[in-house]
Amino acid sequence: MLRTHTCGELRLADVNKEVTLAGWVQRVRNKGGLIWLDLRDRYGVTQLIFEEGSTDKALLEKAASLGREFVVQATGVVIERTSKNDKLPTGDIEIKASALEVLNAAKVPPFIIEDETDGGDELRMKYRYLDLRRNVVREKLQLRHRMMQETRKYMDAQSFIEVETPVLIKSTPEGARDFVVPSRVNPGEFYALPQSPQTFKQLLMVSGFDRYFQIVKCFRDEDLRADRQPEFTQIDCEMSFVDQEDILNTFEGLVRHLFTHVKGIELGGVERMTFADAMKYYGNDKPDLRFDMKFVELNELAQGKGFTIFDQAELIVGICATGAGEYTRKQIDALTDWVKRPQIGAKGLVYVKCNEDGTFKSSVDKFYTQEDLKAWAEKANAKAGDLILVLSGDAKTTRKQMSELRLKMGEELGLRDRNVFKPLWVVDFPLLEWDEETQRYHAMHHPFTSPKKEDIPLLETDPGAVRANAYDLVINGVEIGGGSIRIHDRPTQQLMFKHLGFSDEEAQKQFGFLMEAFEYGAPPHGGIAFGFDRFCAIFGGSDSIRDYIAFPKNNSGRDVMIDSPSTIAEEQLKELSIALALKKE
Ligand code: AMO
Repeated sequence: MLRTHTCGELRLADVNKEVTLAGWVQRVRNKGGLIWLDLRDRYGVTQLIFEEGSTDKALLEKAASLGREFVVQATGVVIERTSKNDKLPTGDIEIKASALEVLNAAKVPPFIIEDETDGGDELRMKYRYLDLRRNVVREKLQLRHRMMQETRKYMDAQSFIEVETPVLIKSTPEGARDFVVPSRVNPGEFYALPQSPQTFKQLLMVSGFDRYFQIVKCFRDEDLRADRQPEFTQIDCEMSFVDQEDILNTFEGLVRHLFTHVKGIELGGVERMTFADAMKYYGNDKPDLRFDMKFVELNELAQGKGFTIFDQAELIVGICATGAGEYTRKQIDALTDWVKRPQIGAKGLVYVKCNEDGTFKSSVDKFYTQEDLKAWAEKANAKAGDLILVLSGDAKTTRKQMSELRLKMGEELGLRDRNVFKPLWVVDFPLLEWDEETQRYHAMHHPFTSPKKEDIPLLETDPGAVRANAYDLVINGVEIGGGSIRIHDRPTQQLMFKHLGFSDEEAQKQFGFLMEAFEYGAPPHGGIAFGFDRFCAIFGGSDSIRDYIAFPKNNSGRDVMIDSPSTIAEEQLKELSIALALKKE
């Protein structure tokens, strides 16, 4: 070893020991005859001191010549510091250096490698390996590591077997586009990278594995957002001989285990809510339950009083922002402008202030009496000092807009505390979702999800009303995981494909292997997959999953460090039989 200790290790108890440390030069402070050097490695920072008189001149000069991020090895004796630094775990001691070796010089880094850096996003991504030297960044990956180890511990203890499934497969319809890989030995044919190991894990159930999991890379060619990467990681799980309740309980156990062992938090119960209620009360299938602000429908109270906009609306919906009655005109105007932005698209915003003296002030005072407004306030459970905000229009759009406004108000009122965790199971998702663009139904989760038995007759009459045995785990408004009880017999799977608009031939061509497997003794089964990057980001208190991925892609799906994607040589294209196709263009 090139060192006897790490840079995070030495304490007062080590005083008088001769030690050798190795690491990166974080900072050099040169006061003429006295030089302090902060040496950093993954474990911490230790101060070295070079002093004229006690240190020979050549050593002092060598120390003075070091630049930031040089890799050095230093030997010396641990001494007690005269001025201690209580911010550093090693802050009570320093090393009186007697030898110094430069293991490697370093160019001046393009940004400062400290917790507070001057490097912009683009630059830090280009030099991600330097960014990863920063404590704040490395700690995030250490959190990820902990989550991974604890996940494996829990799953193993529950008798789940980790099985690797292939990465070169054919497409699984998870709703996004596939990344494809040309096959050289099968000209004109392509593999697809898995959007998830869905069909393989079901086949493992047919194989009798009973409980499977995998921490696995998935690939989806979709538009990127803060919580989406083209390649991301799932904790993918499947179980046999279970119903929905068993799955929810087993994985509530995983969530609880992670909270206890990674965050040191004992979770209360995980709430449950139907999809229908989530939409009705929060306008969203992933409600943030850290705060209340439930929707109240005001149609009955607000219609028929001469306010045409409300009279013509399918839905009039309000929220009560507790304690926001003090909002100024300017603040309310700002909110109005906010909901009118194209991203939200509301036509306007109605407000009712509940004054301390029991009166009301609203933007629609012309149409509504104090008695009317009092009734609204009662319905919204608003008290003096509160602010009621109301939107109206067609039901679907208005709910969506109000959902955004609710989150915005939660943010403004400081109700979205990153240290508070409110996990929620959303259950009873619809099986199918109407797609305006293609004018047909799509599987809301995926085509292998089983409908609720009692709703199967509705498949013929009212497909949109059929509920599925499907569930999502939501934490603080983020969809962390989703899964379902699967179809496990050929006739039902065939019926499902029919309703999704597949011809028998198409279904056979794409999923014949799965339907055939169902004919060889498939056990009832179901499962779930958690977005591992999102899980880490929530635990770390961040909105962006990129911070929790060692080498993430940017917003255009590029890795700016290795400059990928990139063109490939003509020769390579030819070998893959795709040169001709390109030339035609
Ligand atoms: P689903 O498509 O819901 O289910 O994905 C499961 C979870 O994966 C996460 N996720 C993502 N995270 C980062 N970037 C992305 N692009 C991305 N896409 C999805 C989400 C999501 O909840 N095979 C099924 C699971 C099952 O039925 O068992 C599936 O993949 O957190």
